[in-house]
Formats: sequence, structure tokens, C-alpha cells
Amino acid sequence: MELEHKRLLIVGGTSGFGQTVAGQAAAMGDHVQVIGHSRTHVVQAVGRLKAAGEVVTGTALDAQNIQQLEAFFTMHPAFDHVLSFLGGTMGGGFLENSVATIRQAIEDKFFANLPTGKGGGSPFKRPRFAHFYIRCGRASSRCFR
Ligand SMILES: NC(=O)c1ccc[n+]([C@@H]2O[C@H](COP(=O)([O-])OP(=O)(O)OC[C@H]3O[C@@H](n4cnc5c(N)ncnc54)[C@H](OP(=O)(O)O)[C@@H]3O)[C@@H](O)[C@H]2O)c1
Repeated sequence: MELEHKRLLIVGGTSGFGQTVAGQAAAMGDHVQVIGHSRTHVVQAVGRLKAAGEVVTGTALDAQNIQQLEAFFTMHPAFDHVLSFLGGTMGGGFLENSVATIRQAIEDKFFANLPTGKGGGSPFKRPRFAHFYIRCGRASSRCFR
């Protein structure tokens, strides 16, 4: 994924992994827009991120709400990349968790991010972004002989 001098939208970019990626992208000269749920967190994160790069903006909205997402994408120019850090976390790997737990984790992650995918496109309009990435983590188990 080429990230330099692109328009990036980072859903969940006001803390944790998302904010770290937002800072790295801003430092590379990208135009970075972050979305968070809490307005206070957005204002604080944009303040911190402006130290990394000049073009950082933020919006507070509920990324589970398709109407809010559609309004957001309608009001903004298209993005090159959308990265999302929404969704739950499953501790441990595939060996430690039941099939039901793994299935639930995958379902939670997919449906937490589906509204963003749907909000950014429509069968009748031009898509509002070129690429969509979901941060899923990894599940691994150490093997002992
Ligand atoms: N942390 C870990 O150890 C770990 C390990 C493995 C994988 N992961 C994965 O990485 C992802 C991110 O983890 P993290 O620790 O960086 O999370 P985090 O610090 O809690 O950050 C979550 C971000 O998402 C935003 N957000 C949550 N719900 C939202 C909504 N409905 N609408 C808009 N924004 C919303 C939050 O905004 P507000 O602050 O305004 O709510 C915040 O910016 C997790 O989902 C998980 O899958 C994390």
C-alpha cells in the first residue's frame, strides 16, 4: 500500500493503533482525516497529531450509523485509503479459543466495519474511496515438541 501524499481516512484514529498509524501517515505528508466517536477525543487527537503533520483533520461521528457515514462521505472529497480500527479483540490464538468464540470475533469485526464500507459507496454513485482496510490482528499459537 503506497501511503505517501495520499488522502487517508482513519476510522478509530483518535487513540491506540489508529492514532499511531495516523501520526505515521501525517509525518509522511499524507492528508489525514481521523474519525472517533467522542468529540472531545477527536479534538484532543487532532491537537496531538498536528505535531506530526500539517494536514490533519477530525470528525466525531458514530461509525456504526450508516446515515452519519453517508453524510460524512457526501461532504468530503474521495479518499485514497480508508483504514478502520473498529471491532472487538479476541485474546489468544485459534488453539485456545472455541469455534464459537472465533466465529463471534470474526462476525463482530466484520459487522462493526460493514457500515463504513456501505457508507462510502452506492450502486448509483461514484465510490468515495479506493481501498478499505480493516485492522484484524492476528491469532497464533506457539508449538512445543
Ligand atoms: N489493543 C490491543 O491489545 C489489540 C490487540 C490486538 C488487536 N487489536 C485490534 O485493534 C483494534 C484497535 O484497538 P485499540 O486498542 O487501538 O482501540 P482503542 O484505543 O480503544 O481505539 C478505538 C478507536 O475507535 C473509536 N471508536 C470506537 N467505536 C466507535 C464508533 N462507533 N464510531 C466512531 N469511532 C469509534 C474510538 O473513538 P472514541 O475514543 O471516541 O470512542 C477510538 O478512536 C481493536 O479493535 C482490535 O481489533 C487491539
